[in-house]
Amino acid sequence: MRQTRRQFLRAVGVTGGAGALYGAMGALGLAPVAADTPTFVPPRPGDLGGRPPRSVVILGAGMAGLTAAYELRKGGYDVTVLEARRRPGGRNWTVRGGDTETDLKGERQTAGFSRGEYLNAGAARIPQHHVTLDYCRQLGVPIEVFAGTNADGYLYQVGDHDLSGVPVRHRAARADVYGYVSELLSKATDQGALDAYLTGEDREALLAFLRLFGDLGPKVDGDPAASFRYTGTGRRGYEIPPGAGTQEGTPLPPHPLSDVLASRIGYYFSLELRWEQAMMMYQPVGGMDRIAHALADAVGNQHVHYGTEIRAVRNTTDGVEVDHTGRDGRMRTLAADFAICTLPPGIAARLSGNLPTEVRDALRTPEVLDVGKLGVEYSRRWWELDHRIYGGITSTNTDLLNVWYPSYGFHGPRGTLLGYYNEGPYAADYGELRHPQRLSRALDRLTDIHGESAARDVASAFSVHWTDIRHSEGAWVMWSSREGAYERLLEPAGRVYFAGDYLSHANAWQHGAMVSARSVVEALHARVASS
Ligand code: ALA
Repeated sequence: MRQTRRQFLRAVGVTGGAGALYGAMGALGLAPVAADTPTFVPPRPGDLGGRPPRSVVILGAGMAGLTAAYELRKGGYDVTVLEARRRPGGRNWTVRGGDTETDLKGERQTAGFSRGEYLNAGAARIPQHHVTLDYCRQLGVPIEVFAGTNADGYLYQVGDHDLSGVPVRHRAARADVYGYVSELLSKATDQGALDAYLTGEDREALLAFLRLFGDLGPKVDGDPAASFRYTGTGRRGYEIPPGAGTQEGTPLPPHPLSDVLASRIGYYFSLELRWEQAMMMYQPVGGMDRIAHALADAVGNQHVHYGTEIRAVRNTTDGVEVDHTGRDGRMRTLAADFAICTLPPGIAARLSGNLPTEVRDALRTPEVLDVGKLGVEYSRRWWELDHRIYGGITSTNTDLLNVWYPSYGFHGPRGTLLGYYNEGPYAADYGELRHPQRLSRALDRLTDIHGESAARDVASAFSVHWTDIRHSEGAWVMWSSREGAYERLLEPAGRVYFAGDYLSHANAWQHGAMVSARSVVEALHARVASS
């Protein structure tokens, strides 16, 4: 007898518990499990059946390193985390007032942010399906909504078209894009162009849907051109808003079809649908590094050695050795049963020791991406006061690429805007500038989009060019292929394992670092349990 899905799930739930049930639901497409995220069972001390606890040295206290340490500690492993920086988190980095950073070009900045203001210089948003939120829950890190897509944010494109330099509200762009596409598709459908693909019933259902989706006019019998017209809609905003009494409101007229197409303002609506980017999204209250600190606390700060630079990793006959220099500059060697290297791959490739050449070559294979971010604190929340934008993102093809309005501190006396979040050549261009020039160039661009208020009331600013950030030397990596080098690094080199977001299908996300760390913990634990 065929089982119904419900019977199947009930059976799995009875025999395998909630984790298995959830995994099975994911396999059936009923629960949103991330690709490459099998159900994870942390090691338990009892798993090793009386074998002595093993020691693991973890290189790097970023999210992969901390996750590995946290999970291994649950199984009773003797864990030591070596971290070059004076803080946990790696690219989970929250800059607050008083923080100082000197980059590899010697650019030294001290953040002047007011109390409560901050810049998440690296990781800054968390999708609902990422295990990052599970760690927030486990560790008691409070979260709040991260506002991504905002109907009142802008799309700002420059180019050879009539919308060049015109800030278009998301809601207006969406209404026009949906409206025109729906009109054209309705016309084609009604005139039989899609008859090869649609039954008569489908055709009527599609026309009914498009009418709502695009906010279209009706069919005009005998007049195809006048049928299903998109002539604008209140969805896109009002010249005179709906108000009291007889003020019914005057919608803003649509932008012409050709301008909408030429300006590419519709492209954004594919980005916001992406698996990782769709709202709702979340952030820890008070800064992303709350997660890093909570993990480091849970690991036990006596197990995390800051200010410790790794120099060499060696496989020995029955373990590993890691040469490192501490704050006093003296070289020391730590011996352990295993190592987990979570350094950025390009940096790991340069370590001395005896990692095989093919492993070093694999570490050098992925392309490193350049990213820049600028946080600007204002003493007036002009985006709320002058533009009525409360959180969310403005997207532009100017060198700012992305402007983020803060998702916290609404209606407060001050606020910190992400003035740019750019990548590639734009990040490199800004990275060539000193910080004051970066700020002044960004303020000019912000003024183009928002008007003069964007240039006034600047209280402080801090910029990051990730390629020049010591111990990171880039934002994240991209693989042109996940065969060969990628697969090699999923295997240990002797007793040295590799973990990081770069060894997941969620690179550039904390989730990727965490699931990569989990899979290394599983592999290492299985090896110990079977030895
Ligand atoms: N995870 C990075 C972001 O959301 C790429 O911006």
